[in-house]
Amino acid sequence: MLELMGDWQRTDHCGTLGASDVDREVLLMGWIQSHRDHGGVIFIDLRDREGLVQIVINPEISKDVHEIGETLRDEWVIALKGKVKNRSAETINSNLPTGEIEVFADEVRVLNTSKVIPFLIEDDINVDELLRLKYRYLDLRRTEMKNNIITRHKVVAATRDYLNSTSFLEIETPYLTKSTPEGARDFLVPSRLNPGEFYALPQSPQILKQTLMISGFDRYYQIVRCFRDEDLRADRQPEFTQIDLEMSFVNESDIMNTVEGMLTSIFKEAAGTEIGTPFKRMNYEDAMLRYGTDKPDTRFGLELEDISDVFRDSEFKVFSGALGKGGVIKALNLKGKAGELSRKEIDDLTEDAKTLGAKGLAWIRVSGEEWQSPIIKFFSDVEKDNLQKTLNLEDGDIVFFGADSSYIVNLVLSNLRLKLGERFGMIDHSKFEFLWVEEFPLLDYDENENRYTAMHHPFTSPFEEDIELLETDPGKVRSRAYDIVLNGVEIGGGSIRIYRKDIQEKLFHTIGLSQEEAESKFGFLLEALEYGAPPHGGIALGLDRIIMLIAGASSIRDVIAFPKTQKGACPLTEAPSEVDIAQLLELGIKLDIKEEEKS
Ligand code: AMO
Ligand code: AMP
Repeated sequence: MLELMGDWQRTDHCGTLGASDVDREVLLMGWIQSHRDHGGVIFIDLRDREGLVQIVINPEISKDVHEIGETLRDEWVIALKGKVKNRSAETINSNLPTGEIEVFADEVRVLNTSKVIPFLIEDDINVDELLRLKYRYLDLRRTEMKNNIITRHKVVAATRDYLNSTSFLEIETPYLTKSTPEGARDFLVPSRLNPGEFYALPQSPQILKQTLMISGFDRYYQIVRCFRDEDLRADRQPEFTQIDLEMSFVNESDIMNTVEGMLTSIFKEAAGTEIGTPFKRMNYEDAMLRYGTDKPDTRFGLELEDISDVFRDSEFKVFSGALGKGGVIKALNLKGKAGELSRKEIDDLTEDAKTLGAKGLAWIRVSGEEWQSPIIKFFSDVEKDNLQKTLNLEDGDIVFFGADSSYIVNLVLSNLRLKLGERFGMIDHSKFEFLWVEEFPLLDYDENENRYTAMHHPFTSPFEEDIELLETDPGKVRSRAYDIVLNGVEIGGGSIRIYRKDIQEKLFHTIGLSQEEAESKFGFLLEALEYGAPPHGGIALGLDRIIMLIAGASSIRDVIAFPKTQKGACPLTEAPSEVDIAQLLELGIKLDIKEEEKS
């Protein structure tokens, strides 16, 4: 019964047929989405990349064709010749782009059969993601996923078009390379020709794109895969794609203008949306103070207030204790919603706060003149008065408090803010709200390692006027780094770079790299900086995240054709997998893994 295509040539795609094709003879090929036998007449929804069209197999037209029609099953691949006809008025399907017409089949060939599929090829299926990933080729047949992959293509195409038209050059950098520090672990690749030595897959093309600036390739870009061995989340994959840019003789505004132009074009082409420019800008310090995070979702208010000053002499041990240890007290006033949050919800929010490291989540409900709260008994009249004024407390408000190190307070309250924003419908999901966050500190103090580390990467330029502080007060040095945030998701980050060897060496020294370590890790960059390095800067945007936001997907896994699971595995190919001993011998590698470690 199976036939080959023979000399049959497809004339059209199923999904593109319409009223203008009526009376045409067409030859279609595709998959059977569904089939229904209506007492003799068989109806088939035939699907290809462009969509669905209804096929009619009428025993009165051909008995032979009808006989084949009766054998057909879902997801079989068929070819057919037939005539396009108008549907009768009562059978027009206005939900289907091809719903005005149907194709009456004269000849049908079965090109291939299919086993019964493990889940339906339709949107909003409730199926375990592992199963979807194991049968990814079926999952990608679903309209939702297919559209995500097409959106991805459009974003990439728009990016290239924009950058090519603004005199950027696309230049590839190697994947087999040396470690590029971006804060994650490296994926290593053993070298057969150099036993005992390893390449690192790039966490980003950072150092090589800077080297290209030294070569004189003024405006570079690359749509490039990056590899980071880190804990995975909804917006993190071990391999992901960056739109990576670098430019010479520029300042922050030049780079921001370029990115705004590029994103305007991407959103127009791939999302059909006009986004407004210039994007808002906010200092890191301001973002942390008002939102408790360096990637605030500015689609809604509900800002945090630092109320440490109100409680400097508080009798409430939780508050005075936090301040005594150098911490802070911040509050979040959810205006007018006191009556809508049940005690159970408050308890759940408290539990959430605890899982993030908080010791509790104090609150006050304002009911008329009365304040209900487990902690109110500890407050003096002056404190109550100051609190009322600072937070502008009114009837119906409910206030939450965090008292701890600023790290914990910001983490807990920024998460609470997002939860409450969602819970009370404060977020307009149709909006794209871009924000530049700038003036990041150059360095972070790492308590575990007892040293400063670079907050972005160690090639980021400090503010010129802060360079002296590198020796005296490194924590205070501001960097010329900027992040770009869209709806609370960090979609990119970059900086103006260090281009002078003495400053680069000074920074390596501040982050505790000895001269030898600096030489062995970044010697080639230090040397290149001595051969006429121009001032330069750049940025990398997370392509997967941008597409996720355009597609309205909840994870970047849904916009990547073959993503990895949270455990870094690919259920389809079953990577990673064991290898032959012979392969290991060739690489000079001997494994010493105990059975119990293999899980
Ligand atoms: P950064 O490390 O901030 O900067 O990365 C840039 C952007 O890449 C995206 N991203 C990721 N997306 C998915 N999965 C991941 N694991 C992942 N990690 C990062 C984010 C992020 O904003 N070389 C610098 C850029 C520069 O300075 O020019 C860099 O890589 O959207
Ligand atoms: P306790 O004195 O531990 O019973 O706490 C009294 C109230 O303060 C409870 O509502 C706790 O959830 C809350 N609380 C305790 N520790 C903190 C903290 N570090 N920050 C904010 N609220 C807290």
